[in-house]
Parts: sequence; structure tokens; C-alpha cells
Amino acid sequence: MIEPQREIFALFGNPVAHSLSPVMHNTAFRKMNIHGQYIPFCVKNLEDAVRGIRGLNIRGVSVTIPFKTTVIAYLDETDDEALKVGAVNTIVNEGGRLTGHNTDWQGIILTLRNAMEIEGKTFVILGAGGTARAALFGILRGGGRPVIVNRTREKGEQLAKEWGCPFYPLEETGKITAECLVNTTSVGMAPDTDRSPIPRELLTGYRWVMDVIYNPLKTKLLRDAEDSGCTVLSGLDMFVHQGAEQLKLWTGREPPRDLMRQVVQERLMAKDRGSGAGYIDK
Ligand code: ATR
Repeated sequence: MIEPQREIFALFGNPVAHSLSPVMHNTAFRKMNIHGQYIPFCVKNLEDAVRGIRGLNIRGVSVTIPFKTTVIAYLDETDDEALKVGAVNTIVNEGGRLTGHNTDWQGIILTLRNAMEIEGKTFVILGAGGTARAALFGILRGGGRPVIVNRTREKGEQLAKEWGCPFYPLEETGKITAECLVNTTSVGMAPDTDRSPIPRELLTGYRWVMDVIYNPLKTKLLRDAEDSGCTVLSGLDMFVHQGAEQLKLWTGREPPRDLMRQVVQERLMAKDRGSGAGYIDK
């Protein structure tokens, strides 16, 4: 139920029914003593929904699939980082003026930084979609050297050209020497939990392997990587950090990241046991 006099925050996506963002943000609001409420909206018309942010004085919005790129056209301003990534996942409403930001790249870089020094290392990025762009931006910002690997050659080559980095087709991944591999594709996401974007024998050369998928918590890629002696970094950390950076933009305060991680993890574990709801955003 929506309580009166609360500051309203929202998720815009389609679908949103199984998103874990509401439980994560509402838990953070309670802990931070913020009288806020975060509500998921399954958006039918994006332009009308964005107008509704101003009309209803919604203080902040998370934007997810499939609106991260199209939403830019309806905002008053988008920061340079989100423009370069080409996607907005966060809207801040300051007195009716809507600004767009991207915290996905921060989610990726904070997850990597917790495990290693990024500067000077080589990172294989699997995929060439929006999440790959966020990874590219974050890794370049951190002083790392990205290499793009993608199933479809033209898409991968195009992205690599735009960002000034090397490209390899998926079947030539074995030729690359790199410290870390980051999967940005959806291969291995529930319900396809027995699939991995890359054969296990190609993982032995990496010290770290990160997956942006957090459902399941341990994807086949991460299970294979662990068996190959790699240190694994989960999509859960990225999800929590991108959400925490949204809260920072909305409130100017540091959110309780450990608690946010804990509630999301509990929900996902309950789901693994078959007793909880599913989830959907990546
Ligand atoms: P997002 O915005 O979440 O990154 P996207 O734009 O749909 O999603 O991009 C998905 C990426 O995952 C693409 O690079 C896609 O490869 P293609 O360019 O060849 O389509 C990659 N991908 C999706 N399914 C895949 C699969 N089964 N095997 C390999 N790559 C896959």
C-alpha cells in the first residue's frame, strides 16, 4: 500500500513484476530513516510516464529494460557519462527538472575494484550490447585495457572501433591473454542455468571472472571458473552497487550496501530453494 506523505521513488520497466530493486531500495530507505517508498511501474507509454514524474513529484526513478536508451529523449539533461554509455538507468527530479545518469558502469567498476587494481590490466568483455558499453566505460575510466568478444562479428567490430579497442570473435577467445573476463551477455541466466557463454577449457588463463547475471547467484560460468582456479565476482555485487549509487544520487548520502546485498541475496536464495519470487532486471 502507498502511504501518504512519503517521498515517492519509482522503477520504470517492462516487465518489472519480479524485480528485486523495490526490496533493496525500500530496505535502504528504512535503514537510512528516509520517509520514502519505491514502487515498480510496468510502463506502457514512456513519454507519458516521464511526464508523470514531474506531475506526481516522483523524486527519483530507476530505468530498466527496455527503456534505458529511449528515455534520454524525454529528459531535460543527461550527464556526459550516461551519454557516452548511451543509456540512462537513473533519473533525478530536482524541482521538475529531470536529469539522466548511468550507475551501471559504476556497479561494474566497484565490483572489480573490490577484487583488484584495474589500472594496466586486460579485460575480456563478452558481449556487445548496452551492458558491454557500461563495462567498457568503467574499465577505460579505471585505466584498464578492454578487449571485446562477441558472437556476431559486425556488432562486436563496430563497438570495438567506436571505443578504440581490439575485437575477437567468440571462437578465437583462446588467443587472448588477459587477467579478467567479464560476461555481459544473458547466457546462463535463469531458467537456462546450465549454459555458459564460453567453454570451460578457455577459462584457465584468467585470474578473475565476473558475471553481470545474479540469478542464479552462481552461474555455470562462475562455477566453471571456480573449478578452473579463478576468483569469481558475482552479478549480485554489481546490482547492489548500481542501486547504491542511485540512492546516493537521490539522497546525497551513503546507503547501507551490506544490508542491501543481504536482502537481495536472501530473496535469491529463497528463490533457489523454490520458495521465493523470481526476479528480472539485469
Ligand atoms: P544488454 O543491453 O543487456 O547488454 P543486449 O543489447 O541485448 O543486452 O546485448 C546482449 C549481448 O549478448 C549481445 O552482444 C549478444 O550477442 P549478439 O551481438 O551476437 O547478438 C550477446 N548474446 C546474447 N545471447 C547470446 C548467446 N546465446 N551466445 C552468445 N552471445 C549472446
